[in-house]
Amino acid sequence: MQSFQLNERASTVPPTLSYNREGWQKGYRSLKQEFDYWIDDVEGKIPPELHGTLFRNGPGMLDVNGQTIHHPFDGDGMICAIAFDNGRAHFRNRFVRTEGYVAEQAAGRILYRGVFGTQKPGGWLANAFDFRLKNIANTNILYWGGKLLALWEAAEPHRLDPATLETLGLDHLNGVLQPGAAFAAHPWIDPACNQDDGAPCLVNFSIKPGLSSTITLFEFHPDGKLLRKHSHATPGFAFIHDFAITPNYAIFFQNPVSFNPLPFLLGKRGAGECITFNPEKPTRIVVIPRHTASAAQRDALKARIFETHAGFVFHHANAFEQGDEIVIDSVCYGSLPAVEADADFRQTDFAALTPGQLWRFHVNLTTQAVQRELVESRCCEFPYVHPAKAGRSHHYVFMGAAHAPEGNAPLQAIAKIDVETDKRQLWSAAPHGYVSEPIFVPRASAAFKDGLPSADLVGAEDDGWLLTLVYDSAHERSDVVILDARDLHRGPIARLHLKHHVPYGLHGSFTPQVFE
Ligand code: CO
Repeated sequence: MQSFQLNERASTVPPTLSYNREGWQKGYRSLKQEFDYWIDDVEGKIPPELHGTLFRNGPGMLDVNGQTIHHPFDGDGMICAIAFDNGRAHFRNRFVRTEGYVAEQAAGRILYRGVFGTQKPGGWLANAFDFRLKNIANTNILYWGGKLLALWEAAEPHRLDPATLETLGLDHLNGVLQPGAAFAAHPWIDPACNQDDGAPCLVNFSIKPGLSSTITLFEFHPDGKLLRKHSHATPGFAFIHDFAITPNYAIFFQNPVSFNPLPFLLGKRGAGECITFNPEKPTRIVVIPRHTASAAQRDALKARIFETHAGFVFHHANAFEQGDEIVIDSVCYGSLPAVEADADFRQTDFAALTPGQLWRFHVNLTTQAVQRELVESRCCEFPYVHPAKAGRSHHYVFMGAAHAPEGNAPLQAIAKIDVETDKRQLWSAAPHGYVSEPIFVPRASAAFKDGLPSADLVGAEDDGWLLTLVYDSAHERSDVVILDARDLHRGPIARLHLKHHVPYGLHGSFTPQVFE
């Protein structure tokens, strides 16, 4: 009886939150200033063997002269470069000087509609039938073929000077892309391509959505030249942000969504707000062979489509081939996190949304059956694996995660999941810290060859560091946190206190070249 009463009382007391929304909101202020300095406020020790540059991209501008943007995905891209050299670290940030950024900063007001609902002032009349796209270059940043490229999936990359982060202009990848052409923000480096005698190559895609959508696959040589390009149609509208590769396949999840363009055409909503999730329809898994076909082989090399439960995937951790199967680890949501037309993203009710969770999908190429299993139920995002394991079977997935094991919440922790043994480790920055994507950097310098990830695993798969930016709401600044990937329970090896905050970012990459 007593325990019943205790339980009853307990159920009426809300669980203590690991975060407070006012603290979290402060990470979404614009960072208008551009900095260039050696980081001298360091707790712990920067490993002297950590050598190279961490590039990060994300929306740095959350308002234009006080006019707030509607969703962070509409914010102008700002690049941070943190260069590690002999136990010291240098910080630099610069906005990508896109055409839209330059024009809006000069005008002091919003001139473009955003894909995720940002509207020009003046109501729907001022926005109707304005289909100009502002290439905001805010999603990822990649150093490839001697070029530093800021990526945004709906248009071509911007090229930057890796040493100064100065914007050099739009880049069409040596004529591969037409002006304005889409190029996804989620490239993979295949560390040993079996079509190129084991040399590394870059694999990326573009999407042309419509009643039937076209997926184009691109593969590039380390010098930047195009090696292969082929296009495949898939029925229906496709909203695809990320993909996965194996040595022989590229894998795309076509989420069950539909697009009603009318509110966008009429100037009432952003295009991204006109996408609705259809839970009664299956998710399609589109598997495209990476090998370029000779005429005789072409039929065997067509895209194949498989079906699984409805779910929404932004990001995949990795994929690999195993017998007749392709295995894919992905962060999957029960439904699409909606962008509401009238809601302020700063007022997000985390508890009302379904969390992203790590699932494993098995696609059987012979029987066509797809099976899935929940790997990690804790709310998570931004999965990352050792670069030598891209497309190969992996032991570890590193990712941003919620502090609490259940429910949806901001990312405050870094999780390490051993998918072989099911062991887990968690380092949490709660209650005041909010993490970003953790980037795994192998410890051994031999893990890189000519500046690119080697396919040979040097040392254990977790022998390296995790680099993540953490917003510290108590001090209203951000830290670069270095964790020992072998043992997250050790806590940070080093916390590098920046002189300012960095708004919550999206994706980044590490190169062993030092650009300080
Ligand atoms: Co992404």
